[in-house]
Amino acid sequence: MLSVLTRFFVIICVALIAAFVSLSIWGVEIAIAAGIFIISIPLIYAYINLARLRKHILADSLENMSLPSGFWEEVFFRLQRLIRNLKQRIRSIEQQHDHFIEAFQASPNGIVMLDESDQIEWCNSIAERFFGLVFKRDVMQRINFLIRRPEFVQYLQKRIFEEPLLLERMGPNGNLSLMLQAFPFGQKRHLLLVQDVTDLQKADAMRRDFVANVSHEMRTPITVLMGFLETVQTLDLQKDQQDQYFDLMMSQAQRMKSLVEDLLTLANLESNTLPASVSVVKIETLMAMLKNDAEALSQGKHAIDFELSSPMNLLGEEREIHSAFSNLVSNAIRYTPDLGSIKVAWSVNSQGQGEFLVKDSGPGIASEHLPRLTERFYRVDRSRSRDTGGTGLGLAIVKHIANRHQAQLIIESTPGNGSAFMLRFPKDRIATS
Ligand SMILES: Nc1ncnc2c1ncn2[C@@H]1O[C@H](COP(=O)(O)OP(=O)(O)OP(=O)(O)O)[C@@H](O)[C@H]1O
Ligand SMILES: [Mg+2]
Repeated sequence: MLSVLTRFFVIICVALIAAFVSLSIWGVEIAIAAGIFIISIPLIYAYINLARLRKHILADSLENMSLPSGFWEEVFFRLQRLIRNLKQRIRSIEQQHDHFIEAFQASPNGIVMLDESDQIEWCNSIAERFFGLVFKRDVMQRINFLIRRPEFVQYLQKRIFEEPLLLERMGPNGNLSLMLQAFPFGQKRHLLLVQDVTDLQKADAMRRDFVANVSHEMRTPITVLMGFLETVQTLDLQKDQQDQYFDLMMSQAQRMKSLVEDLLTLANLESNTLPASVSVVKIETLMAMLKNDAEALSQGKHAIDFELSSPMNLLGEEREIHSAFSNLVSNAIRYTPDLGSIKVAWSVNSQGQGEFLVKDSGPGIASEHLPRLTERFYRVDRSRSRDTGGTGLGLAIVKHIANRHQAQLIIESTPGNGSAFMLRFPKDRIATS
């Protein structure tokens, strides 16, 4: 490949030779014209190539341009290679960028990138949902103009980001608890990480409630028991009076015992995350046992009807099924006034699901209580329930047992019109023998 100078020299030489030859044959004018013509050939060629280059640059198609020959071939070839490499690098940077964005989008946490003036440079869709932001609309807006909670504004102003900040009642429905923390990065920029801690907060509150409830439930019988003990100790009582006090003490001790037993049952059920086993539970035998217990509990004060509409049995944990069924039956008896009627039925519906139903003509339950009945220690009427010895753990136990058997607990009740509690078991938990 000839250098630029050599090319220039060759052209000048050719032009001079042509001029001399023309001078000796045709005279001065033709010689000058021949010289100029020879010199302008590469200029015209260069102009044509520059025009092509311009056309391809404007159309962003430089890589597809066919290469000219000679000196321009090398220039265009190198230019094409440069552009190809640059585009390749841009593509791989873009791909990397897309991967980062995808990873940030896949994060279960909200992520917001803030510049040095706390303007939103980028945020993922979780952060959009948490704070009601719209990235396209809010990009480069100051975040404290968009999230106006005083504690958040203060957190940003103080610039002490060692501790996270808890924001409650956030999210589109105001029911989220969010834990956020800012982390410095780059040049005075900040990455805001936001975690949904609603469930953790709820679990924490439930744990606190649970401890408070257990203490409260235990304190009452213990106080009563201590009162009786004091009385027996200090007063000189007759034998029959003493017996009466001992009976009362026994019933308080019994109450504590059943509370502890229920708590243990719940703890066992909660710690057992595996589904219940699939041993055959003979419904006929179970119904006979329930009938005996029900009659003993009611002492003839209710009309109790047991109905066995299907010979099919259940597949499950016998002890748990018995406990769930008897909780529902004993509730019906305890909350239905004397002379009321109670129906207990087992059937298999048209879809092959097993249904255990306990229906009573009792006082019924107002709709606002229904969703909360299976919470631990939840009682509709605390004073009445305590009269009947209830601690509010029965339906929580039933619900856990239902879950372990993939069954649904369906409660229908209207005040004044009695209640119906049904456990509906899936088809694959029903067996013929
Ligand atoms: N058949 C029913 N009729 C009316 N109210 C009911 C009936 N069954 C349950 N309830 C209400 O639901 C509440 C929760 O019932 P649950 O069985 O969980 O607790 P409990 O009966 O009070 O106590 P426990 O079952 O632990 O001895 C009861 O306190 C009662 O107010
Ligand atoms: Mg109960």
